[in-house]
Amino acid sequence: MQTELLTPTGEHIAQAAALIRDGQLVAFPTETVYGLGANALDADAVRAIFAAKGRPADNPLIMHICDPAQLDGLVTVPGRARALMDAFWPGPLTILMPRTDRVPDVVTAGLSTVAVRFPSHPVARALLVESRVPVAAPSANRSGRPSPTTAAHVLEDMDGRIPMILDGGPCEVGLESTVLDLSGDVPCILRPGGVTKGMLEELLGPVEVAPSVLKPLAEGEVARSPGMRYRHYAPKGSITLVSGAEEDVLRAMRRLWQDASRGGQRACVLCFREHTDALRDCRPHDLGSMRDPSETAERLFDTLRRLDAEGMDVIYSEVLPAEGIGLAVMNRLGRAASFRTVRAADVLSDNSGSV
Ligand code: TXA
Ligand code: MG
Repeated sequence: MQTELLTPTGEHIAQAAALIRDGQLVAFPTETVYGLGANALDADAVRAIFAAKGRPADNPLIMHICDPAQLDGLVTVPGRARALMDAFWPGPLTILMPRTDRVPDVVTAGLSTVAVRFPSHPVARALLVESRVPVAAPSANRSGRPSPTTAAHVLEDMDGRIPMILDGGPCEVGLESTVLDLSGDVPCILRPGGVTKGMLEELLGPVEVAPSVLKPLAEGEVARSPGMRYRHYAPKGSITLVSGAEEDVLRAMRRLWQDASRGGQRACVLCFREHTDALRDCRPHDLGSMRDPSETAERLFDTLRRLDAEGMDVIYSEVLPAEGIGLAVMNRLGRAASFRTVRAADVLSDNSGSV
């Protein structure tokens, strides 16, 4: 199949909407990451998404809408969701809602809830309006790869597998939406994203964060969000996070990089812009300014993709506080590293030089 990469003109958006109505797949920009969309009410079209991504069938999809009225007959909107929808839609917040059987099982992997999101990106909105159907869309990467934040990333993963990619330029947020579960007494963030815990708490009172957000699932533990089960965002090389006081972290990263390089491995560091000069001998990759975690969010997936393109075997990365958008960054970076962390002070006190 030939994959067309098109600018999102009115005419191209109309073509994309026609493809969606015809049961085909279209990749499109959202404010978070690029999505791979199909008519959510057409089970065969949705199955094609799983095939194109190589996605396990038990990992449910998000249903995208452009008007809450589209939900009539498809879901029961939880009471607490109304205020959230008013405050944060359109935007990077996905809410789980009990669904009716008009939502095909393949969308929800058979779960009784469906994840719903109203994106704010103008191209996504125009496509949804013209399609006139809810659009099921996961991130438009091959399963296991970092989510795409540019059309070029989508093409890397999907060339020849889908008929069309709408190129809306780089995504503003750069990490996927916040996924919120309202079924318990206390609302629970299953996946942190652009709408932060603090923003939700202003409206809802206390909000929990699922334990799997910042640590691996324990043996036998059941993930409330199936996506958390899978190795994700992982480059081929192995990432280790280095935590501690700023000066210690820089010295420890240099030592770790030297040890790996002497051992014949292709190594690099991920560090804040303020530190690229101090680490200039260690193949620094710029995570953005340490004073602007939203910049780190925006750049992270592109950086992870570069590591593969450059054939890195070993990567050492700085960390940032898991607060605000930093929680979403540390969730993605942590999972890319399989949550492997070393303390800089331990590295520096280890005279053998190896960890
Ligand atoms: O920003 C986003 O959310 C992007 C754009 C394209 O909208 N989409 C996205 O979709 O990230 P995806 O499929 O890559 O991630 C959806 C996440 C997965 O972790 C999935 O397990 C979880 O949402 N999810 C979907 N439906 C669910 C449900 N009914 N219950 C629990 N988790 C659910
Ligand atoms: Mg995804």
